[in-house]
Amino acid sequence: MCGIVGAVGAELDLASIFDGLRRLEYRGYDSAGVAIIHNGELEVAKASVARESMDVLADWLSAQSFSTGQVMLGHTRWPTHGAPTLANTHPHLDCTGDVAIVHNGIIENFRELRAELQERGHAFRSDTDSEVIAHLLEESLRGGERPADGLGRVFERLVGHMSIVVALRSYPGMLLGVRRTSPLLAATHAHQSFFASDAPAFLALAEQFYEVPEDVVVVLGDGVAGDGGALLATLEPLSIEWSSQDAVLDGFASYYEMELHQSPEAFYDTVSALMTLDHEAVVDQLSIDPYELRRIRKVVIIGCGTSYHAGLVGRYLVEHLARIPVEVDVASEYRYRDPILDADTLVIGISQSGESLETITALRECIASGARTIAITNVIGSQLSRVADGVLYTRAGPEISVASTKTHLAQIGALGMLAIYLGELKGVLYPDESKRRRRELLEMTRLLRITVQRQDDWHAMLADYLHRERFFFIGRNLLYPVAMEGALKMKELSYIAAEAYPAGELKHGPIAMLDDQAVVVALLGKDRLHDKMLSNLEEVRARGAKLIVVAVDGDTSPDDLADTVLRIPPSDALWSPLLMVVPLQELAGWMAQVRGYDLDKPRNLAKTVTVE
Ligand code: AGP
Repeated sequence: MCGIVGAVGAELDLASIFDGLRRLEYRGYDSAGVAIIHNGELEVAKASVARESMDVLADWLSAQSFSTGQVMLGHTRWPTHGAPTLANTHPHLDCTGDVAIVHNGIIENFRELRAELQERGHAFRSDTDSEVIAHLLEESLRGGERPADGLGRVFERLVGHMSIVVALRSYPGMLLGVRRTSPLLAATHAHQSFFASDAPAFLALAEQFYEVPEDVVVVLGDGVAGDGGALLATLEPLSIEWSSQDAVLDGFASYYEMELHQSPEAFYDTVSALMTLDHEAVVDQLSIDPYELRRIRKVVIIGCGTSYHAGLVGRYLVEHLARIPVEVDVASEYRYRDPILDADTLVIGISQSGESLETITALRECIASGARTIAITNVIGSQLSRVADGVLYTRAGPEISVASTKTHLAQIGALGMLAIYLGELKGVLYPDESKRRRRELLEMTRLLRITVQRQDDWHAMLADYLHRERFFFIGRNLLYPVAMEGALKMKELSYIAAEAYPAGELKHGPIAMLDDQAVVVALLGKDRLHDKMLSNLEEVRARGAKLIVVAVDGDTSPDDLADTVLRIPPSDALWSPLLMVVPLQELAGWMAQVRGYDLDKPRNLAKTVTVE
């Protein structure tokens, strides 16, 4: 969602703080703005030319007569209320031009607050929900309240999940921040202090980061109303294992391509950290007594988007390896289902960022219902990791591209390891079987490397499909979630209409959509449904649709049916989703690249979704 950066200190180097804002570009945004206090003056600059906004702001900054300041606020906006116009771009000011605010999240009661403020004579310049914060704070300060108390009182009136950072022209050495559920980190380093919504903004600026406590106004700088440094000293620093170098493009044209190529290492680092050299389980971060896990009678997996799709694969893994019934749902739906949970239910929340609001809030409700919970996340210290009883980290390194690739594979790896562990605890797998399964999973790294290296061969084979506009992805059993992920990638990167179906469902309706303009991408595993899948391919063929089949080396059965066969190495059917998804990620990325789209910043999307 929106990205926030704030810095305060004498002689701030504005270019390096702006660089911190740039590091949040990957979260996705449509417009961006900064507010700077220098020599007691408050300057605001905004740009709303989509992904070029950052370049416009950089040009503005380098054209100024000053290069240092006392305060800088920066914001990348992913619109929730109001179009991506200049007027709606943050920072927003109050009527007097003293208060500048940036905001991430949604103020659910902003309509009442706005009407009330308008009645008292405040003039609004934007359609955003955020602007009410500046006007409410203006009133508090006019009433003589100290800034931190005033912001605290304003915050109490705001309904919803959000984070806010405020700069005041009349207090040029101070920055205020407050949050509820939405992420906001703080840091201090060499007489400078920072707020940011996301750690990458800080990586080059500070070494230790702290999470701003919920509902507490933190004052940074030489604030008269509080000492943020002293508060931060009482908090546990977050351990961030990434360095600024980790987020640098390594000769690739896009993060998407780079991260797709990093998948084998991301997968290896994840699964190898969860086993000993002798293939025994390492589960020290689970923090749930094995005795309690043995009692589990139902598993629920929740997540959004790509993480949800990993959860769907996880269902097959847990049911097969541990023989525990599994439910999977999208977090935004599960929360409102009035679910039936008890202490014998294990809920697994999956989130790359660990900050998806819907996954966090759904997991919190599961905890309130007495269920045991585990987070699978890529971000150490993220909210999801702290909300859950236990955590399994994916160790994929920073994922910058909005469209996930390597973290998806790492999530499936972590789910596989958890499924084996549960199977062992439940007595479904004998110790030697669980060791064999872990070894198998680790060995998938080699097959993943081979698969990722085949991309150039696939490009030449896919030229005929570049201008097609309708894609259907089909699979069966644990390859159906892979089809769903392929369709999602195609939509988010190439903006091509793409739908996914269990192959057996085609004949129950969707087959009516097939004609010679449609392309069907079919996942043909070497599994017990192989021959049934071939019958489904015949049905497609008979309707004249173009057919791309992903099949394993040596399986010649689709050769006469398919227009194109993309090959992956053979593996145990249980782990085949790890390989099958790679050509689909590559297909979507390549289509987008050829069509001239920015692979890292798909339109309308945000990397971290912190609103409901
Ligand atoms: C994946 O390509 C998308 N960017 C999106 O579906 C994403 O997986 C979803 O928003 C969930 O994010 P999370 O894993 O950080 O919770």
